[in-house]
Amino acid sequence: MDDRVVTRSATNFDESFELSLRPQNLQQYIGQQKVKKNLKIFIEAAKMREESLDHVLLYGPPGLGKTTLAAVIANEMGVNIRMTSGPAIERPGDLAAILSDLEPGDVLFIDEIHRLPRSIEEVLYPAMEDYCLDIVVGKGPAARSVRLDLPPFTLVGATTRSGALSAPLRDRFGVLLRLDYYDEEALAEIVKRSSSLFDVAIDDQASVELARRSRGTPRIANRLLKRVRDYAQVIGDGAITIDLSKTALELLQVDPLGLDHIDRKLMETMIERFRGGPVGLDTIAASIGEESMTIEDVYEPYLMQIGFIQRTPRGRMATAPAYEHFGYSYPSET
Ligand SMILES: Nc1ncnc2c1ncn2[C@@H]1O[C@H](COP(=O)(O)OP(=O)(O)OP(=O)(O)O)[C@@H](O)[C@H]1O
Ligand SMILES: [Mg+2]
Repeated sequence: MDDRVVTRSATNFDESFELSLRPQNLQQYIGQQKVKKNLKIFIEAAKMREESLDHVLLYGPPGLGKTTLAAVIANEMGVNIRMTSGPAIERPGDLAAILSDLEPGDVLFIDEIHRLPRSIEEVLYPAMEDYCLDIVVGKGPAARSVRLDLPPFTLVGATTRSGALSAPLRDRFGVLLRLDYYDEEALAEIVKRSSSLFDVAIDDQASVELARRSRGTPRIANRLLKRVRDYAQVIGDGAITIDLSKTALELLQVDPLGLDHIDRKLMETMIERFRGGPVGLDTIAASIGEESMTIEDVYEPYLMQIGFIQRTPRGRMATAPAYEHFGYSYPSET
């Protein structure tokens, strides 16, 4: 959708190296302490009972480690993982084929599960509840329903929009885990771990600097690291120092808060042309030449998260910290 260096969604560039950086087990999976603590208990309990793990729903913004965690769960359980996604399953038969191919205890990962067609969801319910499939064979008056038994399995669903999931589907997950944005400390640790996998030296200050500009998102941290490593090789001696990372990030146009030229343009437009608002979304969109929906879904969330934009009934407003960050003086109230 967009090729900003600070986008949370996966790009082709990420796919080329993300796989090699993926943590394999819970110990390598950094941060998300609450999620890990819960999972550890559920996994241990399931193993003690020699049962498959309850169905798990993972939700949270892109790039926080949902797909990674699904694979970690399978590894920790010592079972295979089969990966598919909501939009990839078009007909009930597609799902039946996948399910009947599972071995006892296996993990079935369905990414973007909120995009599963409703007709497929209905096939999934008995599979999740009773490990069986009801299939209709034949047509017309001769049609009859046949029940197929399935091996016990664990469905791990992932979604960026848990609100878009139907209630009956959501209710069938025993474990709901929400992934949160990572703090600076966890991101710095991720940067260090990735550096050692890339076999590149990085100092502590530089890892913190990269962490700070990563918008709470491991995917962005790894992407920035990969870019900065290139600079280190070309203009430095290969090692990532604090000075080199600052220079590189400036060239990449990622500012100290992880904001890029689009964030800047958006905020400057609000501040200069609309005196900080309130201004309607459509008006902002028209003046920077973007779709309202793109602003709402892609650009605005992080600016709201760091408190630079406030949503009011009369429109969006730029806040005092935003004025300060971009070098404007905040109009005093008179
Ligand atoms: N807890 C973590 N510790 C270390 N690295 C992580 C962690 N979580 C994610 N990563 C890194 O971030 C990358 C992106 O994670 P992942 O693909 O799992 O995100 P996602 O939530 O599935 O994103 P999307 O919603 O776009 O599918 C992974 O390749 C991995 O290297
Ligand atoms: Mg994913």
